[in-house]
Amino acid sequence: MSNLAIDARGVNKTFGTGALAFQALKDVDFQVKRGELVMLVGPSGSGKTTLLSILGCVLTASAGVVELFGTNITSLRERQLPVLRQALIGFVFQGHNLISSLTALQNVALILETRGVKRRHAHDEAAALLKRVGLGDKLNSFPDQLSGGQRQRVAIARAVAGKPPLVFADEPTAALDAHAGLEVTKILTEMCRENGTSVVVVTHDNRIFHLADRIVHIEDGQITDGHTAAAAATSPTAH
Ligand SMILES: Nc1ncnc2c1ncn2[C@@H]1O[C@H](COP(=O)(O)OP(=O)(O)OP(=O)(O)O)[C@@H](O)[C@H]1O
Ligand SMILES: [Mg+2]
Repeated sequence: MSNLAIDARGVNKTFGTGALAFQALKDVDFQVKRGELVMLVGPSGSGKTTLLSILGCVLTASAGVVELFGTNITSLRERQLPVLRQALIGFVFQGHNLISSLTALQNVALILETRGVKRRHAHDEAAALLKRVGLGDKLNSFPDQLSGGQRQRVAIARAVAGKPPLVFADEPTAALDAHAGLEVTKILTEMCRENGTSVVVVTHDNRIFHLADRIVHIEDGQITDGHTAAAAATSPTAH
């Protein structure tokens, strides 16, 4: 069994066609080990969300191979992707993306129900997760009744609900002050470490870098510090 959670090789993504074509990812190689926490860092427009979306089965690559836990997702049919996504992946989106007509509890419980947990249990588990992220007194609040940091915590509880083996977080601290940003990232990393989850966090926030196992830089659609752990281990020039 491979020790890689994510093995992406030669990934390209072009948006649009003809004169309007734009290549957002250029031959990206990106590996994440099981249980590893990687932060993906790069300027605005460098391709971070695009890469995360491809790894998260939200977008398909134009070329290249992506394997998640040994399953080649680039060879799957489009309609199979949501099934795989549901089984494997928790997502904290850029902007929290909570459903505004549902309470904090319902937002988290809904994900558990889609992962096959029965309603009663889903509510109990969602309440426990929200308590864990410090929102025990906000279970019945709607997203617009919560602060930015609180909404982000709900989004984190939702991403880890059901313990998916992979969690992606796209700038989870962007809307938060330094203290709140560090707090929510700590909660995310703690919960993922307990579950042995592999995590990719996109961030500009150097105040949270110390929580990562590894930082990967991307610029203009290319990984700029190419030696992944896997490549370094097999490379004769690695030292
Ligand atoms: N659907 C699309 N159609 C055309 N171009 C797109 C599309 N989505 C993204 N792009 C382009 O691809 C590039 C990478 O976008 P992406 O959203 O991945 O950047 P990012 O690194 O996440 O930036 P940010 O830090 O601002 O969120 C950008 O130049 C963007 O304009
Ligand atoms: Mg982005």
